[in-house]
Amino acid sequence: MSVNKEIKKITTHTLLKMKEAGEKISMITAYDFSFAKIFDEAGIDIILVGDSASNVMAGHETTLPITLDQMIYHASSVVRGSKRSLIIVDLPFGSYQGNSKEALNSTIRIMKETGAHAIKLEGGEEVLESVKRIISAGVPVMGHLGLTPQSIYKFGTYTVRAREEEEAEKLKRDAELLQEAGCFGIVLEKIPAALAREVTGRLTIPTIGIGAGNSCDGQVLVMHDMLGINTEFKPRFLRTYLNLHQQVTDAIHHYIEDVKSGDFPNESEQY
Ligand code: KIV
Repeated sequence: MSVNKEIKKITTHTLLKMKEAGEKISMITAYDFSFAKIFDEAGIDIILVGDSASNVMAGHETTLPITLDQMIYHASSVVRGSKRSLIIVDLPFGSYQGNSKEALNSTIRIMKETGAHAIKLEGGEEVLESVKRIISAGVPVMGHLGLTPQSIYKFGTYTVRAREEEEAEKLKRDAELLQEAGCFGIVLEKIPAALAREVTGRLTIPTIGIGAGNSCDGQVLVMHDMLGINTEFKPRFLRTYLNLHQQVTDAIHHYIEDVKSGDFPNESEQY
């Protein structure tokens, strides 16, 4: 396993250097103190406090319901658990689409109330003014193109984006605009691998893929998916590293058995 322990603290500058050196960037979501601490100590480069918290933590069908206050709660817990990783927080739906002032105000709340290092927002040209305003206030911004779950009702489905030329051309243009506006990186979600390769090759800032092939400068997965906590979500791009659902179920069965049989607690487990 290659974790660069020389790097004491990952910054947006570190990520640029990693791209230049051809070193891949590892990123995972987290929403609470305890998992953030495990991921940080394991050497993950970036922890994303994703608005996927709306799905995996709160049980909503989409990312739309989660609020800025709820994101701040999750993000501040993650920040308390981390020392080395760069912490990026998603601006939730409804907290930035109104105008760039709203976007900046939401960002300021996240930065002041959580201690996170950067924000991420979805979209290209449509959010450019907000991106510029946030960056001019000194806050690093990560873009997010391709499948953008906050627009699910516009797309209608979670299928692969930008297969058609028109959408692919818009994505390439958006990626360049985000880079010119000063973004330090861009998430590319569920797009053809060849398109992600082309975008990654054109940009000087890193791309982080999820369902976008292995030419991206880094990869991100939702922790509940890659740890096998979710069992129903099985997209082609997902690799599961653990079957935590089964392991937790087995542990709980064992505990119930021990309680029911009177085996727990035993002599050494009492005062
Ligand atoms: O909210 C999230 O988890 C994300 C990742 C899928 C990139 O945006």
